[in-house]
Amino acid sequence: MFVMEKTKSLNLRYNEMCNDWDGLHECIDPKKYKHGQLVLSWKRLNVSVEKITQKFFQKSKITRQQILYNVSGNAQCGNLLGIMGPSGSGKTTLMATISHRTKGNFEGELLLNGRPVSEEVMIKISGFVPQHDITFEQLTTLEHLYLMANLKMDRRTTKTALKARVDYTVITLGMREFLDTALSMLSGGERKKVALAVQLLNDPPILFCDEVTTGLDSYSATHIVNTLKRIARTGKIVICTIHQPASGVFDKFDEIVLLSNGRLAYQGPVPMINQLFQKFSYKCPDLYNKADFLISIMNSDNEQTKRNVDEMCKLSSTDKQTDLNYDLFNDQILLDYTQHLQIQKSLWITQLILILNRSIICLLRNYKVKLLELGTIMFLGVILSTPYLDLKFDTKAVQNWQGFWFSLITNSIFQYCYTSIITYQAEFPVVHREVSNNIYALSVYYISQIVITFIWTVLETMVYTYLVFWVVGVNWELLIVTTFVINMLICRSYGSVLSAFFDKFENIVIFSLVYDYLAISLCGAYISLGTLPFILYYLKYFSIFFLGCETLSILQWRDITFIPCLDVENCLRNGKEVLLSYGYDIDRFNTDIVILGSFYVVLYMIGYYGLLRRTKKQPAY
Ligand SMILES: Nc1ncnc2c1ncn2[C@@H]1O[C@H](COP(=O)(O)OP(=O)(O)OP(=O)(O)O)[C@@H](O)[C@H]1O
Ligand SMILES: [Mg+2]
Repeated sequence: MFVMEKTKSLNLRYNEMCNDWDGLHECIDPKKYKHGQLVLSWKRLNVSVEKITQKFFQKSKITRQQILYNVSGNAQCGNLLGIMGPSGSGKTTLMATISHRTKGNFEGELLLNGRPVSEEVMIKISGFVPQHDITFEQLTTLEHLYLMANLKMDRRTTKTALKARVDYTVITLGMREFLDTALSMLSGGERKKVALAVQLLNDPPILFCDEVTTGLDSYSATHIVNTLKRIARTGKIVICTIHQPASGVFDKFDEIVLLSNGRLAYQGPVPMINQLFQKFSYKCPDLYNKADFLISIMNSDNEQTKRNVDEMCKLSSTDKQTDLNYDLFNDQILLDYTQHLQIQKSLWITQLILILNRSIICLLRNYKVKLLELGTIMFLGVILSTPYLDLKFDTKAVQNWQGFWFSLITNSIFQYCYTSIITYQAEFPVVHREVSNNIYALSVYYISQIVITFIWTVLETMVYTYLVFWVVGVNWELLIVTTFVINMLICRSYGSVLSAFFDKFENIVIFSLVYDYLAISLCGAYISLGTLPFILYYLKYFSIFFLGCETLSILQWRDITFIPCLDVENCLRNGKEVLLSYGYDIDRFNTDIVILGSFYVVLYMIGYYGLLRRTKKQPAY
């Protein structure tokens, strides 16, 4: 008896969702928006990508692969439009193109109420929920929502209004259970909800959702589609790609765009699709999922079915049909979406504080990785310094002390550089997406990374030098520690630049291999720099190994006035002679520091250019 009642109540809840549209009746009547005031149309869209085939000892072959062929269509405010088709049919590509997220890599027209719409305007007035969501995973759901609300909403919004908007979004999407859970711990469906919530925060007039129901159970999928429909009914354009929706979910869409191999097979109201299929004698069996049935036909290997699908595509893509749709929906009165264009984004400095705060939280919550890095550097420091334990100023002083500095500097440069070449490799895809969606400026993220790297490098180097200097017997003095820190900051900037400039790890390895070998040979340990040929003499200033070795050797030897020379002929008698023998100039310390400082600035500027180039080149969806 008890079991029966429980089942009944569960069914009821499901039916409520499917039939009553979760309170949808309270919303604005969809008919009011029929041929409404905001219409997005796309006309004869062609999208292709370049494919480069690399060949050994031959010119690489560049071919173009067409993904979308003459696809036309439209979406009106008040309606929920679904884009369906088999995997690889071009759903994501179509949605990325009509949402202007492809960096202009398409042919055809994209119009808002009959007027061409620019990338800048489209990004401002639309939200895009990507198929594969990525984010900084250490934050909790609530922290992430508040951060995004602060960055996306008008800066004049009061704290109370901001909180109200976050609360409303949380309740609308049913996210209360996992508000305090770290994003890394969320299930696929919960992550989808978070991604959707972020896009809803600033209430955009157009919403694009790529596979927003994929990974959700049918109850949650129905709930999300109901929510999207309710959003659409408030006068917005909502476009979703969907993958095998449950039967209840499919019927909730007002219109469907059906794609087959990059071609449009159908666009129109959901019930009308039966007529098209009946024309080709296809009838969905009773009790069979209609969406599954459509996809099975689109995907069929049967030759006759393939010919029929081709025929459907021809029917839908005729110019007559396209122009009819086009004339119907264009030249409408403009909906007042200008308010969205006038949103005042948060100030640059506010963005910096927010993004820096996020980076610090992520760093602290990821402390184990940093501790491991510190532990490794300390461990290598101990191994490296043990042979030089408690060095003295005896007859072997020159060889031992210089050996120690050469070894310490070259090893530290490699360690510091290699621990930073992954900086942007890991974070770039997330940042690229956020920057492309105009959430914050690239410079904000870049400066926040420089600040974090600066603080961490200073702390790490102080601990590292304290240990190594103690083992060897170097005085832990301000000038020598600061000089060492400056050198290590340059290494970090060098590593970061490689990471920012190259998108492939292999390219970083090739570049750093060439530079490191050339630069290390000019450090002074392998050849007396005074004997270098003229052309190489000035190249040494581009070597971070040389600059490191010279600055620290000067500090080591400039105050040494006497070196014992017992039983040794032609020995070096003071620090000045030591420096001279290696080709170091005692008066060049300040110049070296200025060169190091310039490197720091120039390298980070090159890195910024590298990141900017990548964000402009690669589409973000
Ligand atoms: N940048 C690209 N380079 C090469 N091929 C691409 C690129 N982007 C998309 N494609 C190809 O275009 C086709 C359509 O891709 P798209 O991601 O739009 O499909 P989809 O319908 O969204 O598939 P799914 O349902 O699996 O998400 C696929 O065959 C894909 O391999
Ligand atoms: Mg896709």
